[in-house]
Parts: sequence; structure tokens; C-alpha cells
Amino acid sequence: MGEAVPIIGGTGALGHGLALRWAQAGVEIAIGSRDAERAAQAAERVREAVPGAKVEGLENSDAARRGPLVVLAVPFRAHSETLNNLRGALEPGQLLCDCTVPLAAAVAGKATRTLGVWQGSAAQQAEEMVPEGVRVVAAFHTIGARLLSQLDESLDQDVLICGDRREDKAKVARLAELIPGLRAVNAGALETARIVEQLTALMISINSRYSSGEAGKVYSGLQVTGLPEGDHWA
Ligand SMILES: NC(=O)c1ccc[n+]([C@@H]2O[C@H](COP(=O)([O-])OP(=O)(O)OC[C@H]3O[C@@H](n4cnc5c(N)ncnc54)[C@H](OP(=O)(O)O)[C@@H]3O)[C@@H](O)[C@H]2O)c1
Repeated sequence: MGEAVPIIGGTGALGHGLALRWAQAGVEIAIGSRDAERAAQAAERVREAVPGAKVEGLENSDAARRGPLVVLAVPFRAHSETLNNLRGALEPGQLLCDCTVPLAAAVAGKATRTLGVWQGSAAQQAEEMVPEGVRVVAAFHTIGARLLSQLDESLDQDVLICGDRREDKAKVARLAELIPGLRAVNAGALETARIVEQLTALMISINSRYSSGEAGKVYSGLQVTGLPEGDHWA
């Protein structure tokens, strides 16, 4: 297994934004897609924006074998199908960082509403579906793709991280904090993803109310106040 960060659904908005920012930080990326050619084109777009970026594009299963921490960024309607398709690729010891939000928009509903998920959240659905020995962390739900993709824009936001093992969350936190302007916040157990996934719909609702006229399009972020200074993850 390589040392890249595989991004499943990396041809999409969030995956592309994360790939750009991590590539800028010198992280090796494996962009995954259902279509290897589309993944290669997405990798090329990253290289154009970040000259010298260490990035390759592969079919999702091949990408998933490229590194120990796999990021999943697909629409909710594709969540279970994608996880089914990854069953043969994911190996015990790998960590899946799920960014998926069950927005109603995934089934033609409003982006400001979410769908009920039997397991409680997309992340818990993922936990039920990954092969034994693969653990799941949920993160990046409140980080907007548009802002990530605008490399001249600075970030100043928290990434809420949910997971059942502190060391797993710390790995995702370290990766998140390689992006300047992002602070990783320990949000609690994986079941807390039930709450955090809802925040995306809330932020879409806020963005729409502040995006108009001179303000242009607004991309809000989220910050938790009152936390102690210092490295929580040490
Ligand atoms: N966009 C944001 O700002 C943001 C922020 C936080 C969280 N999220 C969540 O992160 C996930 C990804 O968001 P996104 O905006 O990046 O989504 P997106 O651009 O619509 O899709 C991401 C990728 O998923 C893949 N995919 C696999 N199966 C699919 C299917 N059946 N239908 C459509 N696409 C499919 C596609 O890649 P291939 O066609 O190449 O396989 C697509 O490029 C979502 O769950 C979203 O709610 C998004």
C-alpha cells in the first residue's frame, strides 16, 4: 500500500477542493472515480492549479489501495453503492474518513433538508458497510468546496471530527490541519455525526440568505469558541 491520500469521488466538488489544498501542502493524492479516465483528467486539473502536485487519477478501487486513510466524498445517493464496490479494495487497518451528508438534494429534495438514515447518519451507515477491521471517522461536513477550490482565498474554519477512537480522529485531524486555516475539533463519537451531518444543510440555508447583491456568493464557515489553546491531538 502506498502513502497517498485516496479521495473516492475525488472528481467532484469537495474532493477536488480537498485535493487542491492537500496538494498545495505537499500531500500525495490518489483521485478516485468510477471512471479512470475522468480521474486522470481531474488529476491533471489539480496539477494545472498546483504545479508539481503529486497526484494521480485512478478507478475508485485502485485509488483506495493507494494509502491507509481513505477519504469518501460522494453524494448520498451513491454512498451505499460506492461502499459496496469498495468492499474488495478496503483492507483491515485502513481508515475511512466519510464526508458524506444525506442531503435531501441527493434525491431531488431541498439542499436545506436532510434524509433520515436508518443507522443514524451516513457515517454510521458506512461503518456498517466497510469490511471488518476498517474503521470510520466522519469529518469535513462544514467545509465548503467552493472556498477550498479558490486557492487565493484563505480559510479560517473548524473541521468537526467524529469517531470512536481518539487515535483515528487524530490521524484525520493531522491531515485536516495540513491545510492552513483549518483547525480540527474533536466533536465526539461516531454517532455524533448524526448532528454534524445536519450542519451542512444549516450552512447551505445560511449561505443562501447572505448571498445577494454586493455581497455576492457567501461561503460561511464554522468555528467553535471557548476551547483551550494548544494541540489537542498531541
Ligand atoms: N460540496 C461541498 O461543499 C460539500 C461540503 C461538505 C460535504 N459535502 C458532502 O460531500 C459529498 C460529496 O459532495 P460533492 O459536492 O463533491 O459531490 P459531487 O460533486 O456531486 O460528487 C462527487 C463525486 O461522486 C461521484 N459519484 C459516484 N456515484 C455517483 C452517482 N451515483 N451520482 C453522482 N455522482 C456520483 C462522482 O464521481 P465519478 O462520476 O467520477 O465517479 C462525483 O464527481 C456529498 O455527500 C456532500 O453532501 C459536500
